[in-house]
Amino acid sequence: MSSLPLSWPSAATATTTKPAFPSSHLPSRPNYSFKVSCQATNRHDNQNHKNSPQLSNTETNSHVKLDRRNLLLGIGGLYGATTNLVSADHPALATPITSPDISKCSTGTNLNTKQPLDVNCCPPMSTEIIDYQMPPVTKMRFRPAAHLAGKEYYAKYEKAIALMKALPADDPRNFMQQANVHCAYCNLTYEQAGDPKLKLQIHNCWHFYPWHRWYLYFYERILGKLIDDPTFGLPYWNWDNPDGMMLPEPFVKTDSSLYNVRRNQTHLPPALADLAYTQRKPTKPDKIVANNKSIMYNEMVRNAKKLEDFYGAKYILGTATDPGPGSVERGSHMAIHSWVGEATPSGEDMGNFYSVGRDPIFYSHHANVDRLWTIWRGLQGPKPKDFTDPDWLNADFLFYDENAQLVRVKVSDTLENEKMGFVYQDVDLPWLKNRPKAGVTKSKVATTSGAPSPNTVFPVKLDKVVKVLVDRPKKSRSKKDKEKEEEMLVIQGIEVDTGKFVKFDVFVNDEDDKPDEFDKAEYAGSYSQVPHKNSTKVTSMIRLGLTDLLEDLDVEDDDQILVTVVPKAGGEDITIGGIKIIYSS
Ligand code: C2O
Repeated sequence: MSSLPLSWPSAATATTTKPAFPSSHLPSRPNYSFKVSCQATNRHDNQNHKNSPQLSNTETNSHVKLDRRNLLLGIGGLYGATTNLVSADHPALATPITSPDISKCSTGTNLNTKQPLDVNCCPPMSTEIIDYQMPPVTKMRFRPAAHLAGKEYYAKYEKAIALMKALPADDPRNFMQQANVHCAYCNLTYEQAGDPKLKLQIHNCWHFYPWHRWYLYFYERILGKLIDDPTFGLPYWNWDNPDGMMLPEPFVKTDSSLYNVRRNQTHLPPALADLAYTQRKPTKPDKIVANNKSIMYNEMVRNAKKLEDFYGAKYILGTATDPGPGSVERGSHMAIHSWVGEATPSGEDMGNFYSVGRDPIFYSHHANVDRLWTIWRGLQGPKPKDFTDPDWLNADFLFYDENAQLVRVKVSDTLENEKMGFVYQDVDLPWLKNRPKAGVTKSKVATTSGAPSPNTVFPVKLDKVVKVLVDRPKKSRSKKDKEKEEEMLVIQGIEVDTGKFVKFDVFVNDEDDKPDEFDKAEYAGSYSQVPHKNSTKVTSMIRLGLTDLLEDLDVEDDDQILVTVVPKAGGEDITIGGIKIIYSS
């Protein structure tokens, strides 16, 4: 059971073999060694308040450290002035995130309670790391929609997972070890290579998609190897389509290797996945499909016009964790995690980042997230714009491959799933043509509301609904202006405790005291966060697209908009620093 077929072709070719564990604190690549001493104290005086200015297209990063209050008032640029010293003025300092030194993995302590964690998700040690060479693609792996894959397919998949669970506990390909890979990269277990004062976190930033693509890639290859099927592809949970919104049946059969008991038992079929879910405020069943379609449109189209809004904020060496999640990551993706997990504050397994990988449904959830990446890129036209920033392209991570070899992989290899050897089953996209309609189209809703202006309100703790009147620096924009620049609502200085589930929703010109309807144009977007075991306080931000929204509400000539922020979970643990409108080209 524990030995893998010997005939399997070796996927990774050893081009360069480097010692896995450099003895110093310096990163293994000598050309990056300047990073440690350079400006370190300035950058690291406080891990919690140094998110870099990465989502702004219109404003230049500055290396000048400004008073944070100025930042919150919007004087100092968007995120604005930052203590991160990487900037247009100092391009030489810009460096990507690189592979962690796994010998320095620690179980860590809870940064709030200072208690040691009761979970150890560090990977087994290895003596060498190979730079991964993508094997030539001879036959595509086909990833089917989970609700459409047949009996024969599931027989294979269940067998593969059973074999993975039966591998020796210290084999890096063992199911629990695979689950720990996620825990290690998200639970503040690793140091940032080159910066021992900061922890590595691949969520809530622009590495969310590429890192998870690699994670599933190796997971899938390990499974394929275990059943001797090099074409095996993971099933994706098609929760963006009404036909696929239930937990797929094979995952809820108690005798299946795909079963997991630590799930919310009220969400088994026929319950439909609720993309607006919080434990405190589940959606009424008859509203779920309409809401979900609107939320998907919002995340994939209206709030994802710019690269950084889809992918998430820039995250490089020296950036504090969680600079800003992309539209899908903070929305439907988080909702599914917490909807599947137990209805407890810690939400195991799927509702807590340290344990998500222990539920086999995780890999189908993320196959769908990954598929949405492919779809989003396809929606950008035949030649989609991609990040060209070397800080994104040259970032790298470590994984164990299907031969239990520790390999170093790069973000730049992830852009095209076909080149990585897998494709997704085509299904309808019911959300795509589902541009939500306005509940009310009338001008001056904002000005007659009597709501206060942001600078009298922020920073504010979100233990209640917050309404503010936000000035629009430009109005009545021409079609050309709108094509050139997206009008965006920026919610900045979002301070949250990552140990808690938190969610808030944002509405524009909604006259309700406590708006709650997602299937209309007034719904602008959401922020949410699944808890982590190793919690810390982070400062994050989001941007919501306004151009289409204001067109749909027919208020393009108004001077102001009414913004309502509605806490849905953990509001007493959320502070918002400021809200403003910017124009992003
Ligand atoms: Cu790595 Cu869905 O989280």
